[in-house]
Amino acid sequence: YHKKKDRAYKIYSLVRDYYRFLLTSDTGAGAVQYLEKRQLSDAARNTFELGYAPPNWDSLTKLLLSKGISGEELTKLGLVQAKESGGFYDRFRNRIMFPIWDNQGRVIGFGGRTMGEDTPKYLNSPEGEFFNKGQLLYGLHIARKGIREQGYAVLMEGYMDVVSTFQKGVINAVASLGTAFTRDQGKLLMTYTHNVVIAYDADAAGTTATLRAAEILQELGAQVSVATLIGAKDPDEFIQSQGLAAWQQVIEKALSLIQFKLDQAVKKYGIQNSAAKERVLQEVLPNLAVVASPIELEDAIKQTATVLQVNWETVLEAIRNYKKNAR
Ligand code: UTP
Ligand code: MN
Ligand code: MN
Ligand code: MN
Ligand code: MN
Repeated sequence: YHKKKDRAYKIYSLVRDYYRFLLTSDTGAGAVQYLEKRQLSDAARNTFELGYAPPNWDSLTKLLLSKGISGEELTKLGLVQAKESGGFYDRFRNRIMFPIWDNQGRVIGFGGRTMGEDTPKYLNSPEGEFFNKGQLLYGLHIARKGIREQGYAVLMEGYMDVVSTFQKGVINAVASLGTAFTRDQGKLLMTYTHNVVIAYDADAAGTTATLRAAEILQELGAQVSVATLIGAKDPDEFIQSQGLAAWQQVIEKALSLIQFKLDQAVKKYGIQNSAAKERVLQEVLPNLAVVASPIELEDAIKQTATVLQVNWETVLEAIRNYKKNAR
């Protein structure tokens, strides 16, 4: 069993090396241009082992078959697909290739970004024995050191966010590879730190996903805060246009989960009358009810009272009632 696994890791590494080699060859000229347009440095490309899958239908297939690896095995590894007419073809064609690693830094799959407008924008390895998107965090084995040094992790959506911010000095970021953050990913992150700043994209999907991820992390016992990106749609764009100092400001000004929920609820319901205020309060009561630290609770109560323009005693009373009814 271990032999079979080791063999798979070797094949994935070989494929990574092949794609990396192609990025530096003539075939990869367009891909290099694309990465330059995205302002990704050589250092970042090397750290994250970026590569290029050529446009041909069978470059990788040919290479791997010639090494005596069967098409069936390669299909299982998600690297090739079977043709109806027999034979196999490459899964990834004409894409920038991001290797994806497990927690130990072994390549277990790939994400491939189109350089144009075709869909999907990112094609990932299929879910399988090795690649499970919901059980890994992109870049964790690289960010591990930074997370320990800085005492917190930043959770982002995408490959580009992590690579692009890393080269500018954000060395403690990982990506959930989309917005579907899972409990397993939360547990994994919690083995490195209990402090997490969520920096998902500044769009509706990102906002919804932020709430979900935050609740999962909080339930697992993490200290969660939420970054607000102004003037950019994601961390990549933000750091490229505003730089590291501005990023550090964003981190410093990250909102507590309660403050974030208050802001969201006020946007949704307003606070023009008691009914609206009541709705806003309902959104944060479950969170207020689980704050364990008395100091944190006092802060949270004050924040809530300020937003609702009520006395803090009113909020405290609401929390007491909420807890009574929950029992
Ligand atoms: P985004 O659409 O926010 O992409 O998806 P991005 O990270 O900003 O990438 P660029 O800047 O356009 O290059 C975030 C993440 O969601 C997953 C990928 O993991 C991506 O990094 N995703 C997105 C997919 O798997 N497939 C897709 O088609 C789109
Ligand atoms: Mn722990
Ligand atoms: Mn997004
Ligand atoms: Mn982006
Ligand atoms: Mn994005």
